[in-house]
Amino acid sequence: MTALSVSTSSAASLRADALVVGVAKGPKGIVLAPGAEAVNEAFEGKLTEVLSTLGATGAEGEAVKVPSPAGLKAALVLAVGLGEAAEAGYQLEALRRAAGVAARTLAGAKKAALALPTESADEVEAVALGGLLGAYAFGTYKGDGNGKEPVGELVVLAPRKGSKDAKAAVERAAAIGEEMNRARDLVNTAPNDLNPKSFAAIAQAAGKEHGLKVEVLDEKALAKGGFGGLLGVGNGSTNPPRLVKVVYTHPKAKATLAFVGKGITYDSGGISLKPAGHNETMKCDMAGAAAVFAAVVAAKRLGLAVNVTGWLALAENMPSGTATRPGDVLRMYGGKTVEVLNTDAEGRLVLADAIVRAGEENPDVIVDVATLTGAMVLALGNRTFGVMSNNDELRDTLHTVAGEVGEQSWPMPLPAELRKGMTESTIADLANMGERMGGGLVAGLFLKEFVAEGIDWAHLDIAGPAFHESAPFGYTPKGGTASAVRTLVRYAEQTAANGKA
Ligand code: BES
Ligand code: MN
Ligand code: ZN
Repeated sequence: MTALSVSTSSAASLRADALVVGVAKGPKGIVLAPGAEAVNEAFEGKLTEVLSTLGATGAEGEAVKVPSPAGLKAALVLAVGLGEAAEAGYQLEALRRAAGVAARTLAGAKKAALALPTESADEVEAVALGGLLGAYAFGTYKGDGNGKEPVGELVVLAPRKGSKDAKAAVERAAAIGEEMNRARDLVNTAPNDLNPKSFAAIAQAAGKEHGLKVEVLDEKALAKGGFGGLLGVGNGSTNPPRLVKVVYTHPKAKATLAFVGKGITYDSGGISLKPAGHNETMKCDMAGAAAVFAAVVAAKRLGLAVNVTGWLALAENMPSGTATRPGDVLRMYGGKTVEVLNTDAEGRLVLADAIVRAGEENPDVIVDVATLTGAMVLALGNRTFGVMSNNDELRDTLHTVAGEVGEQSWPMPLPAELRKGMTESTIADLANMGERMGGGLVAGLFLKEFVAEGIDWAHLDIAGPAFHESAPFGYTPKGGTASAVRTLVRYAEQTAANGKA
C-alpha cells in the first residue's frame, strides 16, 4: 500500500524520485499552478517555456516529464494538467484528478512529492486523496514483474502556515482513500474467491481490526428468520447467502443512519440467464455492499459523531436445479409475497429483506446502494449514479453531497403510475418486474414498498459508475471504483455536524 505523508520542506530540498507540479491553460499559453514556485526557480523561471517546448498544454489528464536541473533533489519533474487556469483557486476535483494522474504515471517509483496547490486544508485533502486513489493497483492475481508496483510513498508538500490542519487533512484522506481502495479490492476479487461466506468473513476480520461490531446471519439463521428474498436469490448456488450487520456507534451521536448494500457476489441472471456479453463483469454486483462496508469503517476511523449501521445483503445468483424459477413466489422478510417473474431482477429481492430488517431498528434515514439496473446505465451513462427517495429534500441533499466530494449523480423521480405494473401479480402482493420503460425507477418503486412507514429512505443506483471498463482517467483505474463511498461518508459527516439527519 502506498504510504501517504505531509511535509513542509521546500520542493527544492526534498529527496524523491519525482516532483509533481500542476500546469494549466492560461489565456496566453500555459501557466504554473501554486506550489510550483520553488521548482520554477530551479529552472531559472523558465519552466513553462520548457514544458511548452515538450508539448504541454495544461489539459486535464496530461502528464509531461522533464529531467530536473541542478538545484532540485528530485531526479524528475512531472507536470500534470489541471485544465483551465483558475485564478480564484482550482476545483477540488481537478486537484484530485491531477494528483491521481501523477500517481498513476509514477507507478514503479519509490517516492514522489506532490507540489500541487495546497493553500487550504481542503486542497491538501484533495491532493492526498487523489494521489492515494490514483496509486491503487489490484495485484492479487498478478505474478511478480507482471505490471509495475504502485508508487511506494507520496509526500504532499504544504505551506508551513496551517501545517497542523494539513496533517489532519492527510489523515482524513488516508482513512477515506484506504477504505475506498478496500472497496475496490472487494469488487475486483474474482467471484470464485469472493462469495457471500468469504465476504462475510472479510467483514468480520476487518470489523474486529477496527473495533466494529459485526453480526452474520448464515443460511440457517436466515431460514429461521424468514428472509425469503435472500434465500430465494441464493437458492441456485452452492454458496449460500448471508446478511451481515456492521455497527458503528458514537457516544455523542444524535442520529442513526442505516446504509444497506446490494451484495450479489456474482449475478449470472439465474434461470433468466444473462447472455454472453452481459455477464463478464457481474462480479461487480456486490459493489453496493462493498461501498457500505467501506463507509462504515471510514466513519469509525474518522470518529464521526453519528451512529451508522451497515447491512450487507450477500447472495450469489446462479441457475441450477435448486434455483428459484420465474413463476415462483417468495415470502419476504416481514411477510410480503413477491412473484419472481425474472430471476435477473434479484437485487431488489435481497435488498427488500435487508431494508425491512434495517427499518426494524428505527433509524432516522435508510440509504441503500446498489448496482441495480441496466436501465440506469442507459439513462445516465457510466459515470453518474441515480438518486431516488421517498423524500425530495433527502434526495437533493444526497445529490449535493455527492457533488461536493467529486461524485457525479443525478436526482431521479419515483413516478406513482409506474408502480401499477408491479402490483398486477395475480397471485402475490407484488411482482419483481413492472413496466419495461423507466426500469431504474420501477426498481426504486419496488424497494420503496419495503420501507417502513415514517422512515426517510434514499436509493443510489450505481450500476453505471461502480465498475470502470474503459481506459483509466484521473484517479479512476479500470475495475472497481468505490462509487458512493465518499457520498455516504460525507452524508454521515454532515449528519454528525447538523446533529440530525
Ligand atoms: N446487476 C444487474 C444490473 C446491472 C447492469 C449492473 C449493468 C451493472 C451493470 C441487475 O441485477 C439486473 O440484472 N437488472 C435487470 C433487471 C430487469 C431484469 C428488470 C436489468 O437491468 O436488465
Ligand atoms: Mn440481475
Ligand atoms: Zn444484479
